[in-house]
Amino acid sequence: MQFADLAIKNNKLFSVPEIYDLAFSYDIRAEISNFQGLFADCLSKHILLPACGTGRYALGLAEKEHKVKAFDIAPEMIRWAKSKRKHKNIDYFVADMTIPYNVQNDSFDAVFLLNNSFRYILNKEHVIQSLKISNKALKPHGFYFIEVGLNEKQNAVGSVTQWQINHGTKKAYIRWVLKNISENIATDLVKITIESTKHSVVFEEEQLQRIWGFDEICLIFEKTGFKIKSIFDKNFKQIAVDDFNKIYQQGKYFLIFIKKQKP
Ligand SMILES: C[S@@+](CC[C@H](N)C(=O)[O-])C[C@H]1O[C@@H](n2cnc3c(N)ncnc32)[C@H](O)[C@@H]1O
Repeated sequence: MQFADLAIKNNKLFSVPEIYDLAFSYDIRAEISNFQGLFADCLSKHILLPACGTGRYALGLAEKEHKVKAFDIAPEMIRWAKSKRKHKNIDYFVADMTIPYNVQNDSFDAVFLLNNSFRYILNKEHVIQSLKISNKALKPHGFYFIEVGLNEKQNAVGSVTQWQINHGTKKAYIRWVLKNISENIATDLVKITIESTKHSVVFEEEQLQRIWGFDEICLIFEKTGFKIKSIFDKNFKQIAVDDFNKIYQQGKYFLIFIKKQKP
């Protein structure tokens, strides 16, 4: 086997969808059916999917008969999604979730912001702007479903998240190291190595993500017209909202906020 190392150092991960898509190509069928459980009362729902990346979740939801509007700030991601994850129930477009984009007010049953995409909005004012836009787009009682890592603290510096993907003749090794935290912003060192029979590709970059605690995230949602409804851990086990502060640890959670009614 011969490997020619190719370092794609100056590209951002989200502008190389072929690498992103392989690195995140784990099976999401169980997640999709858990999401479906949230809609037990009705089959067809209108879903807004900001930061949709390569369209993995958009397609999963569209195949369950949901109507999905999915967008991302990276045109490369949307090009990939349109060519590989096309579906009659999905409308893909390029947009920044922090700047008003073209969707109808009061028209979605749910917003899904998945896989820590929320944490890529670094500036608090931009977060508020993004949540207000989503709030307007939601129908009364619509919900905002967010998957987010909570409570990274200084003592988490050095922590490593890693996984491996086997995809036909390709293998991908992904390693995410929390390098540093400064003023609510974490710097992660991301390394993705893809090996195939012919060559290997190494992608490395530093990524910045905002750090959130549970109270802080609830406060910002409250301020933008939502209230917390339910919480699930990464295995989709429900946690009582009132118990959360007593038991929660650093890690990923699914939080559901509901659009508050105007008084
Ligand atoms: C970790 S990826 C998650 C992608 C997708 N949700 C998934 O689970 O596969 C984060 C995505 O957020 C997108 N993103 C970051 N900032 C954004 C913004 N302001 N507006 C829209 N998309 C954004 C990136 O381009 C990237 O595709």
